[in-house]
Order: sequence, then structure tokens, then C-alpha cells
Amino acid sequence: MTTFLEEHGRTHVCGELRAEHIGETVTLMGWVGKHRDLGRLTFVDLRDRSGITQLRFDPHYAEDIHDVADSLRSEWCIAVVGEVVSRGANKNPDMPTGDVEVLPQKLEVFSEADVPPFVIRDETEAHEDLRLKHRYLDLRRKPLQEALLTRSKVNALTRNFLIDNGFAEFETPVLNRSTPEGARDYLVPSRIHPGQFYALPQSPQIFKQLLMISGFDRYFQIVKCFRDEDLRADRQPEFTQIDIEMSFVTPEDVIETCEGLIAAIFEGVHDLDVEAPFERLSYDQAMLRFGVDNPDMRFGLEITDISDAVADSEFRVFSGTVARGDVVRGIRVAGEADGFSRNDLDKLEESVKVYGAKGLAWVKVGDDDWKGPIANFLGDAEREAIEAKMGIEPGDLLLFVAASEEVACASLGNLRKDLAAKLDLIDESEFRFCWITDFPMFEEIDGDIHPMHHPFTSPHAEDMDLLGTDPLAVRAQAYDLVLNGHEIGGGSIRIHRQDVQAKIFEMLGMSDEEANDKFGFLLDALQYGTPPHGGIAFGMDRLVMILTGADSIRQVIAFPKTTQASDLMASAPSDVDADQLEELHLRLALKDDEDGE
Ligand code: AMO
Ligand code: AMP
Repeated sequence: MTTFLEEHGRTHVCGELRAEHIGETVTLMGWVGKHRDLGRLTFVDLRDRSGITQLRFDPHYAEDIHDVADSLRSEWCIAVVGEVVSRGANKNPDMPTGDVEVLPQKLEVFSEADVPPFVIRDETEAHEDLRLKHRYLDLRRKPLQEALLTRSKVNALTRNFLIDNGFAEFETPVLNRSTPEGARDYLVPSRIHPGQFYALPQSPQIFKQLLMISGFDRYFQIVKCFRDEDLRADRQPEFTQIDIEMSFVTPEDVIETCEGLIAAIFEGVHDLDVEAPFERLSYDQAMLRFGVDNPDMRFGLEITDISDAVADSEFRVFSGTVARGDVVRGIRVAGEADGFSRNDLDKLEESVKVYGAKGLAWVKVGDDDWKGPIANFLGDAEREAIEAKMGIEPGDLLLFVAASEEVACASLGNLRKDLAAKLDLIDESEFRFCWITDFPMFEEIDGDIHPMHHPFTSPHAEDMDLLGTDPLAVRAQAYDLVLNGHEIGGGSIRIHRQDVQAKIFEMLGMSDEEANDKFGFLLDALQYGTPPHGGIAFGMDRLVMILTGADSIRQVIAFPKTTQASDLMASAPSDVDADQLEELHLRLALKDDEDGE
């Protein structure tokens, strides 16, 4: 007996049929979407990844399949052979295939389906955990299908652009030594080497540098990276980078290549001309004006430093703060003096306290006077100085925080975002890019210095001397690309001199022995003729999230993890057999505790 598939090949996909196909006999395959029983007639939406075609089962046309047609239920997987006919007066202008329908003469049920745990439709209210547990069903929904197909397109556009520009794609090891990108490693125990572990790569950083030392000149890889860190909407424990490295380049060369790549992706996905060169901001400027190093530039509400203007203020909170060497900064909310009640302002104050601010001082600028609890303390000269800095108009609301620079940045940076959301200032259709440059080389955490990017980043040539005297003032040749308030990529020019690299390891508090143990292979390699080189890595999931308007990267990853780093479908992580542990020379301390050992 021949099977249906041996007899009939698919002639069209479900989103393909148009008026020009009327009269043709076609074979379609897909899933049952909506089905409506109208007495003798049964209408079924047949769906595949390309779209939907309406089937009309009419007993006058094919009596023998009508009973089966009647029994069809949502999500059954079927095939039909039938004639394409016009919908006549019942055309549906909202559907690409809405001019036509198919009258099946043959119907094959490949497989029936249980009632799905949630309805497969574009908008869903089903809980995300339930959808993640049945991810294969969630992935049948159009928004997810479109997001993943866009992702596939971004892959192809990236490869084409980079190959056309002289890059070669190489894979680097997944079973690895630890690479320092600042997160915790995922470890893999070795069976062959008892007590030893591989680390999954946080990025291919060292390997791509070694490929430059080997002379490959231009490398890229679309690569999984693994980081055990606290998760949130734009972070996953395993995520994908578009990883790039180039030899004999300046930051300008890398930036130009990236702008070309981004332009190719946006043109390919959205048919959109992105304007290069992108705006640039130094890290210091970004922190001063936006309070964060990943500013969303789609709206204003910039932060202004008014420390000078209030250094001698009668309002002791302000003058005292400046006297301590801290700062007073504020945001002008144009025309919103009447838009915020006392209660609203109290809520804003609570929101900045989360970031360590002691309070939020406010002023409502009237036609003749300033109003608010601190207005009386601000004299004419002070008001003029503030006005000159902030460009004030009657009707404005002014919000101020007096605090350490760090707290002022964090609290006002987040207040700025909250205000934009509350005032609906964000144009969701806009894409605003911005390079952040001149990051500090190091940051101080609990008295120790840490690399702000990673320890292979090169200092600015003119700041080399500061390495020994004032490391926190050293700027790095590092750059991040920010899109709509998300860091979508980060990179740098690398250290290509062995002595400088050794010095940086030493500054980070590594003994020679430790540096040799962890990075000896890199230090060795740097001694054999290293080209100046630099690169970048884009967070591919984040890029696709923004391209598709998704609000979490989980929506653009086929099989994502929850914020608890679990795969709810496959139930990972999971217990393993005692035998497996034994082979790996491992004993679980946790298990011992439970057993009371
Ligand atoms: P970095 O650590 O900045 O640089 O990572 C590069 C980009 O990867 C994305 N990203 C993430 N996306 C999702 N989930 C995560 N947990 C996650 N962590 C990072 C971000 C980020 O900009 N080796 C260097 C690159 C280089 O110097 O060339 C690196 O990995 O979008
Ligand atoms: P107080 O002097 O504590 O009554 O505060 C008077 C006003 O100043 C209140 O609106 C407080 O929210 C505000 N305020 C207090 N401390 C700060 C601060 N560090 N920064 C900004 N505003 C503050």
C-alpha cells in the first residue's frame, strides 16, 4: 500500500495561495487552527509557518471525507488535496490568502492531537511557565514563529556580510579553561582527570586573540556563551554572540565594520536604512547626562549637574552635599508641573530611595514663582544659575537628588526611565544607536581594582603612564554599542605586548604563578609576534529581541531557560545517576547532608 506522502507531494505552503491559483488542484499540509461547523458546511483554517489557508468541506463536493472533516480538532496534523476556488463575496481582506479557499477532495490525518494545554493563537494569556513546559506548542504561535525566523535571517545576513568583508568563521572549544568575563563559570567534571573540571566558555575571547596571533586576520563566529549570573529579561545563562576579531586595526576600523554589519541586518530584516556613523558618547558624558552607560536616547529628560549653582545654598542638603565633594543633579520635566500630585511625587521619591538616594527634592516652576518645599530656600541668584543650566520654562517640574556621584547617577538614571514610561515618551518604532567609548580601564569594588571590561583590553596609549600612579584614571580602548537602552555589543582593542599584559595581571592582584597558571598559554603566545588587534561581540539574542519588538530574550530563543535557569520542558537541571557521579569521581555534599552523614 502506498502512503499518502508517497502519492502526493506538497504543492504549496499555506500562506501562498492567491487569486491567480484559482482553478488549480493543490496539496497542502499543516495544522488545524480554527474550525467552524456551519450545518452541512465545515470551515477549517489550515496553518503552517507561512500562514493560513481556509478549507471548505462541502458534502456536495466530497461526501466520503465529510465525516472525517467533521471530526477534525485543533492542532491535528493533516493534508488535503483540493481545488482552489474564489471566496466570491466572502473575501477576507485581512488574510493574505483571503481571496481564495480550497475545496478538499482528499483528506489525510497524519496525527490527531490531544486538547492543547493552552489555545494556540497570536495573543495569549496563558502563563509563561505553562507555555515553556510545552515550548513546542508555544512555538506554533505566529509571534514566536516570526521571531525565530527573523533570528535565522539575522544569522544569514551576518554570515553573508562578514564573509563578503574578508572574515572567516572558526569554531573554538566549548570544553575549556575559564575565561574571565566577570561571571561565574559553568563547570564540567572530567572523567579522565579525576577532580579536574572544564569550564564552559563565557566567551571565546582568548581563542579569538590566539587566532589573530596565528595570522587569520579577520575572524568571526556565531557562538554560544555560558555565564552563571543573575538572570533578567535580557540575560540568559546560555546566549549567543556574534563574535568578531580583526588584526591591524584601530577602534575606528572595528566601529566602521560593525556599523556596516548592523546596517546590513536592519536593511535585510526591516528594509530600513540606518544612518551611520552612529552617535558617540564618552562613558563620562553618558554617566553625567543619562546616569547609565547604556542610555536610551529615544527620549530627552537629560540629567543636569547643578552642584556649582547650589554650592552656597541656604538649603543645607544641597550645600552640605557639595561641601562633602558629592553632587547635586536634577531632571527638568518640561510642562509637567501640574501633571504630578503630591502623592505622585512621594512615589517618585520612594523609587529613587531604592538606589540609595536620601530624598527627591522638587520644584514646580510657576509664571511668577517657584513652588515646593525647598523653593523658599533658593534665592534669586541661585534660581538664575539653575535656570541657566537647565533651560527652565514656566510650567516645568524640576526634580533633584543630592548624593554621591554613584548614587546620583543610579537614582536619576532610573528615574529618567520611569518618567519616560509614565509620560509615554518612547516611540517604540524607533531604533536609536549610540557608541559608548573611553570606558575606565578599572573599577574599584570593595577596595580592589577589577577590569571594567576584561583584562585583555588595552589602555589608551596616552594613559599608559597612569597605570603605575593612578589606575582608576586610566581609560580603556573599549567601546559598547547601545540600542534603545540595551547594551547590544561590547569590545576593545587588545593588549598585544606581553609586558603590558603581564603588568595588568599583576595590577589585578595576580601573582606571576597565578597568571602563568591561568593564562600562561596567552602570555607565551604574545611573545611570538603578535599583531595589534581588536574586536567586539554582539549579543545576538538582545539584537533580535529589539529587532522583533519582543520584551524578553526568552521570546527569541527556541528553547530558553527561566529566570531560575531551568528548562521547564526538559526538566534541566536534573539529578543524575549514582553511577554517573561515581565515574566522574564526585560525591554530593548535599546528599551526604540529607543522609545525615
Ligand atoms: P561582553 O561580556 O560585553 O563582551 O558580551 C558581549 C555582549 O553579549 C551580550 N551578553 C548577553 N546576552 C544575553 N545574556 C547574557 N547573560 C549576556 N551576557 C552578555 C551583551 C554584550 O554586549 N569577549 C567580550 C567581547 C570582546 O571584547 O570582543 C565579551 O564577551 O549584548
Ligand atoms: P527634609 O529637610 O529632610 O525635610 O527634606 C526636605 C526636602 O528635601 C524633601 O522633599 C526631601 O525629599 C528632600 N531631600 C532630602 N534629602 C535629599 C537629598 N539627599 N537629595 C534630594 N532631596 C532631598
